[in-house]
Amino acid sequence: MNVLEVREVGKTYGGVVALHDAELTVRAGSVHALLGENGAGKSTLIKVISGAVAPDRGTVSLSGRAVSFASTARAAASGVAVVSQELNLFPDLDVLSNLYPMREPKRGPFRDKRAMIAAAEPVFAELGLDVELDRPLGTLTLAQRQLVEIAKALLTRPRVLILDEPTSALDEASTARLLEILRALRERQVAVVFVSHILEEVMALCDEITVLRDGRTVLSGIARDELDIERVVAAMLGDKPELPDHAAPERSRADEGRGTLELRGVTVPGLLHDIDLTAAPGEVVGLAGLAGSGHTAILEVVAGLRKTSGGRVDLPDGRPVPHGLRAAIAAGVALVSGDRRRLGLLLDKPVWENMAQVRTVALGRDGLFIRPRRLRAAARKLLSTLHIHADSVDTACGLLSGGNQQKVVLAKWLAAEPTVLLLDDPTRGVDVGGKSEIHALLRSVATDSIVLLCSTDLDELAAVCDRVLVLYRGAVCATLTGSRINQHDLLHAMNTGAA
Ligand SMILES: Nc1ncnc2c1ncn2[C@@H]1O[C@H](COP(=O)(O)OP(=O)(O)OP(=O)(O)O)[C@@H](O)[C@H]1O
Ligand SMILES: [Mg+2]
Repeated sequence: MNVLEVREVGKTYGGVVALHDAELTVRAGSVHALLGENGAGKSTLIKVISGAVAPDRGTVSLSGRAVSFASTARAAASGVAVVSQELNLFPDLDVLSNLYPMREPKRGPFRDKRAMIAAAEPVFAELGLDVELDRPLGTLTLAQRQLVEIAKALLTRPRVLILDEPTSALDEASTARLLEILRALRERQVAVVFVSHILEEVMALCDEITVLRDGRTVLSGIARDELDIERVVAAMLGDKPELPDHAAPERSRADEGRGTLELRGVTVPGLLHDIDLTAAPGEVVGLAGLAGSGHTAILEVVAGLRKTSGGRVDLPDGRPVPHGLRAAIAAGVALVSGDRRRLGLLLDKPVWENMAQVRTVALGRDGLFIRPRRLRAAARKLLSTLHIHADSVDTACGLLSGGNQQKVVLAKWLAAEPTVLLLDDPTRGVDVGGKSEIHALLRSVATDSIVLLCSTDLDELAAVCDRVLVLYRGAVCATLTGSRINQHDLLHAMNTGAA
């Protein structure tokens, strides 16, 4: 039975057509993948379904009846729960209060805290989320907040559960648990709609696939078995060339110090033990490991974010890495995180201002004498280099699609022309085409700069790295090069700590 039917939905923002005759039909007891490039209209379609955005035309029906929700809370009350790409949580409230926005269980006039806890605890256990319910939400990690958002949706016991890139902030273990839960919901006849750019993940899970391209439905509810990843990608891209030519942004300061980045005996209690690492311009050095094994801690040490108890870190100009991210940026270090909400963007500010943000710190001008005209010209160049879909550099970042926001994060750090570029899962939430563009860009940036890359995407490590250090319990257990940088050898070293 079709639970959810979307017909001929159109939505225009100013001059931008976000949706154009979009269609979506979802069966009860199925997992439906909603796919498309960055900016294709996926999030907009979801917002139309949940009542967060009013469409210009078209209809949404639930079990055959036309609906038009006045708010996402109304949608949830009617059995349609959404885990949105931009989390809708209140950082100042505690975890428990975040779980029940506007619909706290009541006992008389008071909220029934006991009932709230009793309902929440098993859901948290199922998600493997181990946090105290009275903690302020703002103190949680992004992954934990993502899980809280998922728990909040599950607690409404939805008939239709829509998840917009729910795994982009999660590690492997949490992702696996979430996918198990979705399989169980399918058994219970829930209709699940799942958006992800990690195609292997969706294809392994889903029953049907709908693909949007430029706001139109180009594949509508095709059975999973009838499609493979190549065909899905072809539908996403249409007749667009898969890998357009592009040049690296102009570089200047990077040429100054062509020395190496040196870590000697770096130790952080409980995290890193006696790490040695030398990296020179011209190669991309990968860092891999299971969550907590220390690979991302190395990035944080080099970015000045973590105090060491022993050893030293010398930047290419021979000076030790300073304390604090701001000082590290001024010393030529850049840290790009796939977690765009953490090292975030100023969503209400235009693209050019966001791109200029780090650059002004790096050049020590701190916004005092910035010349908007030149900064906008520089931003325009990055916009085309990275194929960022935005009307112009004056568009507010909050209006860009998730993946395009992620590219702006990368652009703003590249604009600072770093000598050391640190990347932590830089392409999470970026579509396949964008991923290969960014990979090519990283290769060209690496001719002048030192690049260290952490990625949960092992194919990404294989695609761009010359050398990968695998960390196990805070120490380097293996160094892989050439054809040994592959899924099998990486996983083996990551899981066993064997060379
Ligand atoms: N509030 C808004 N104002 C103006 N334009 C918008 C707004 N919201 C979305 N858009 C535009 O609509 C188009 C579709 O965006 P949408 O967020 O739906 O894409 P998406 O498929 O979810 O992409 P991603 O994979 O990057 O998250 C984009 O061109 C985006 O810039
Ligand atoms: Mg989106």
